[in-house]
Amino acid sequence: MQTMDSQTFKTRDATSYDAVTEQFDFFTERLTTPLAERLVSLAEIKASDSILDVGTGTGVVALLAAKIIAENGTVHGIDLSEGMLATATAKAEKLGLEEKVKFSQMDAENLEFEAETFDTVVSLFALLHFPNPLTALKEIYRVMRPGGSFVVAVGSRPPLFSASGLSHLVDIFPDLIRRKQGRQLVAPGFLDSLVEQYLPKTDEQEEADLASHSHNRTSGVSKLVRSAGFRLLQTGWQSHQAQIATPEEFWEIQRTFSSISRKRLSNAAPEKVELLRQKFFEQCRTVQSRGGNLVYPFAAFYVIAEKY
Ligand SMILES: C[S@@+](CC[C@H](N)C(=O)[O-])C[C@H]1O[C@@H](n2cnc3c(N)ncnc32)[C@H](O)[C@@H]1O
Repeated sequence: MQTMDSQTFKTRDATSYDAVTEQFDFFTERLTTPLAERLVSLAEIKASDSILDVGTGTGVVALLAAKIIAENGTVHGIDLSEGMLATATAKAEKLGLEEKVKFSQMDAENLEFEAETFDTVVSLFALLHFPNPLTALKEIYRVMRPGGSFVVAVGSRPPLFSASGLSHLVDIFPDLIRRKQGRQLVAPGFLDSLVEQYLPKTDEQEEADLASHSHNRTSGVSKLVRSAGFRLLQTGWQSHQAQIATPEEFWEIQRTFSSISRKRLSNAAPEKVELLRQKFFEQCRTVQSRGGNLVYPFAAFYVIAEKY
C-alpha cells in the first residue's frame, strides 16, 4: 500500500472498532482470554520488566501482564482506536492497576519511544491489521533492549504438515461431517459469505494485505519477524472452539470480530442490513432445527523471538 492509502486504511480500521468497543470487550474477555494467557506465559515476564503491548485493543494482554509485574515493572499498551483505549483505561482503573499500566494512542508503524526502552514486547491479533507489518516489526525491534523477548500471535490455521495441524484435523473431523450435512455453521465465514452475497464490495480496502493473502499465515509471519532482525526461538499454535447458544449472539459476535463484516455492515443502508440479518437468522434456525450447532473457532499462531 502507498503511504497515503496506508494512513486512510489505518484511520478507517481504528474507527471501525469505536462503535463496537463494548461488545468487543465482552466477547474478548470470554473467548480470547485463554489465547491471551498463553501469550503472556510464553513471554516469561519478569517482575521488573517494562512491557509494551502493540495493538492492545481493550487491554486483555496488557492487563494480564500488569497483574504479574511488581511495583518496579510497567506495561504500556498502544492502539489507534480511541474507543478501545478508553475501555482499556477504564478496566485498568476498575482493577486498581492504573499505577502499573498505561494506554496511549499510537501507530504501531511509528512507535513514539526511544530505542531500547522495553524488555518485553507482546502483540495479540493485531499484526494482520497493519498495512506495513514489516515496518511495525522493525519499530518493535528498535524499541526493545538487546536480549529482550517478543511474542506475537496472529489468527491462523495450523502450520502445514505439523503435529498440531494433524491433531487438529483429527479433532475437527466430526465437525467437517456436520458441516457437510448442513448441521453446523462456522463463524466468521458464515456472516462474511452472506455479506459478500448481499452487500457489494466498495473500493474501500477492508483487510491489510497480510490478512487477505491466505488463511495460513504461519510461514509468512515467521519470515517477517526474521526479516525485522529477530532471532526466532520457537513457534506454537493453539485453538479452541466456542459453542454459541443463540443466533442473536452468533450475529453480534461475528459483526464485532470480522473486519470485513464489521466494516461493510456499518457502511450499508439499514434496510439492506435488515434483509441480510433476516437471511442470517433463517439459516441459523434451519441448522438448529436439524439439531445442528453454531460455532466460532479461535486459533492463534505464536512466534517467540529475541532481539540479539
Ligand atoms: C483484533 S484487535 C486485537 C486487540 C487485542 N490485542 C486483543 O487481542 O483483544 C486489533 C487491534 O489493533 C489495533 N490497530 C490496528 N492498526 C493499528 C496500528 N497501525 N497501530 C496500533 N494499533 C492498531 C486496532 O485498533 C485493534 O484494537
